[in-house]
Parts: sequence; C-alpha cells; structure tokens
Amino acid sequence: MSILALFDNKGKLEYVVRNYDDITKSLKTLGVRFERWETPYILSDDANQEEVIEAYKDYIDKINKEFNFKSLDVVSITKHHLKKEELRTLFIKEHTHSDFEVRFFVDGSGTFCLHIDDKIYVVLCEKGDFISVPANTKHWYDMGSQPFFKAIRFFSIEDGWVANFTEDNIPNLVPDHDRITSL
Ligand SMILES: [Fe+2]
Repeated sequence: MSILALFDNKGKLEYVVRNYDDITKSLKTLGVRFERWETPYILSDDANQEEVIEAYKDYIDKINKEFNFKSLDVVSITKHHLKKEELRTLFIKEHTHSDFEVRFFVDGSGTFCLHIDDKIYVVLCEKGDFISVPANTKHWYDMGSQPFFKAIRFFSIEDGWVANFTEDNIPNLVPDHDRITSL
C-alpha cells in the first residue's frame, strides 16, 4: 500500500497518509502528480527492458502524447542485481535536475523523498503508481536493501538522467525504504 509520510527537516515525523486519494491531493499541492494506474501485464522478475516496453506500449504512447518525452528507459532491479548496492548509494543521494522526473512503477516498490522548503515528503510507491516530480525539486530515491522494482523512466532530454548532487546528508534523517514499509 502506498504511503505518504511528512517529516520536518530534523527528521521528526509529523503525519502519515495512507488513503490513496488523500496522498494524491497532498502531493498535488506541491506540483507532484501521483496516480494509480492499472498494471494488467504479468512480467517475469527478470523481464528485460524490451519486454517491459512492449507490454506497456499503449501506456507509453499515452504518456508521450501528453508530455512529448524524448527518451525513456526501464530500471529493473532485484535483490540479485550485482550492482544493487552501488546503484542504491547513487540514487539515495539528494539531487536536483532541470528535467522533471516521471516514473511509472510496473512492478515492485521504491521510495521517493522530496525535500521542499523545510519539509521532507517520503512517498512509498508501489506497483501501478505513476509519479511526476517537478524540475529542480530536491529529492532522492531508495530501493531498499532487498530491492525489487521495475520502473519506466521518461525523459524530456535525450541525455536522460543528469543529476546535480547537493551533498546534503538529509537522506539520513528519514526512514529508508526498508523502514518506511513498517511505519
Ligand atoms: Fe532524480
């Protein structure tokens, strides 16, 4: 079940939202689009990028029509991924980019954290969740110590993911993906 947890910038929990419509409404006030989509296709755990893109072709066409994206890829990571720790360490660093960040989780789960003003919004995303984070928003992503997710990433620039890291240690102040699931 998706969760939105709000923390202050010292890491103190202020509230947790579990109702889906309330999560969507809360995030909308931040300019973050959050929707639950159908995920009717069954993919094997090790489905490759081409298989995911083929399965969700209609969804991809719909998203591209709305946003005019220039490129996309699929991030698919399981606990058996040889570089899972390296990738986790990279994604969990706070960063910004001039591109807005759009992800559609077609399998598994992951946690997006948004640092806006003096608050931290921790969003547990599950299979079927579509999230769009506005450009230049400080954020990070955690897949947890035992990752399992497949997400389609959409980019409005050809170069794809180009991050500017803030070097802030704020990700250490809030629960990671492992702990957010037990909130
Ligand atoms: Fe990002």
